[in-house]
Amino acid sequence: MRGLVVLLTLACFATAQHQALIDYLERRLLAIEDRISLWHEQTTRYASELRELKQQMVSQLENLDKEKEALRMNLDGVGTRVDRVERELDYLETQNGAQPCVDVDDKLIEQQVTLVKEKHKGKYLKLSECSDMISNIKAMKILKRVGGAKGSWSKDTSMGSMKVYIFNGTDDDTIHEFSSVQDFTRSPGLSVAKTVKLPSAWKGTGHVVYNNHAYYINQAQEVMVVKFDMRSSSVTDSAVFPVQDHIPVYGLTPETLIDLAVDEEGLWAIYATHQNEKHVSLAKMDANSLDIEQMWDTNCPRENAEAAFVICGTLYVVYNTQQPGRSHLQCVFDVNDMVSNEDAPLVYFPKRYGAHTSLKYNPQEHLLYAWDDGYQILYKLIMKKKLEI
Ligand SMILES: *[C@@H]1O[C@H](CO)[C@@H](O)[C@H](O)[C@H]1NC(C)=O
Repeated sequence: MRGLVVLLTLACFATAQHQALIDYLERRLLAIEDRISLWHEQTTRYASELRELKQQMVSQLENLDKEKEALRMNLDGVGTRVDRVERELDYLETQNGAQPCVDVDDKLIEQQVTLVKEKHKGKYLKLSECSDMISNIKAMKILKRVGGAKGSWSKDTSMGSMKVYIFNGTDDDTIHEFSSVQDFTRSPGLSVAKTVKLPSAWKGTGHVVYNNHAYYINQAQEVMVVKFDMRSSSVTDSAVFPVQDHIPVYGLTPETLIDLAVDEEGLWAIYATHQNEKHVSLAKMDANSLDIEQMWDTNCPRENAEAAFVICGTLYVVYNTQQPGRSHLQCVFDVNDMVSNEDAPLVYFPKRYGAHTSLKYNPQEHLLYAWDDGYQILYKLIMKKKLEI
């Protein structure tokens, strides 16, 4: 009996010990499981944080790329602007100190009024409502240098045309045609131009292209104005210019006897003859028939004149000053007698090369297409009304 009790006690003891071990192991296992799940949690968090970081890096890299591209474009823009500023700088220089001084004398005004009244008898009656005159030059743009020192170039002055025509030199029988000013500026030399071969030679710098027709000066036996259809490549008309004893119209461009011009009113011829050899003469032409509608002897001297153009029936003659690199507008002649020399603004051309051999006005754009020592230049004009003086 005692032996059984001992045995039972021993067994109980063993079971109790065994139970304690199992409890202990279970607690350890639970603790380990907890830790594992903690690690797992942490690992997942780290992984997702890593993924987020990676995404942030990628998008920041993309932004950097974009910023780099924007910076590069800005730099390009700055380069072009520096270029333009450089070109326009001497324009501004010429503008400074050229402020006209206005000092009006009442008697002078009275005199002018009577003078205007007398002159009005010969007023040109065919003009339309056009009454713009030059106020100043707003900007210049040097587009290119192509061809010789002398020449002329212009856009076709008809509405909506983009084409640009180059008359290189003062004596040739070809015209170079570009599809647009951009095309002309971007392409090297004259190589991509369409070459238009004319049936006769042109001379001087007085040619224009107007409504798909080239009007050029031919000086074979007589001084002729020839009208050439650019679309059909054929001469549609030609006329002997009805004056005797031509002389060069501008003192500084001896090759040019007649300078054709287009304005809001149509076709004009600027010329000079022995009979009025000190001054420039002006004629209004019919662009269809090449007839002369009316002629005027102006008060604008030929001496030191470089070139001229017509805007709304007013002739503007540009002269070379004694100061190097300067041209200015000094003489105007208005066929409507609304603008006199005294009213005309003193306009300096920001020229820095030789002399202008031609200045062609485009009425749609208010631009002057200039040829200056082989440089093709655009001058943007600021206009005002003739009466706002
Ligand atoms: C332009 O004309 C000049 C002569 O004034 C000549 O020397 C030159 O070769 C011409 N250029 C082109 C591209 O035709």
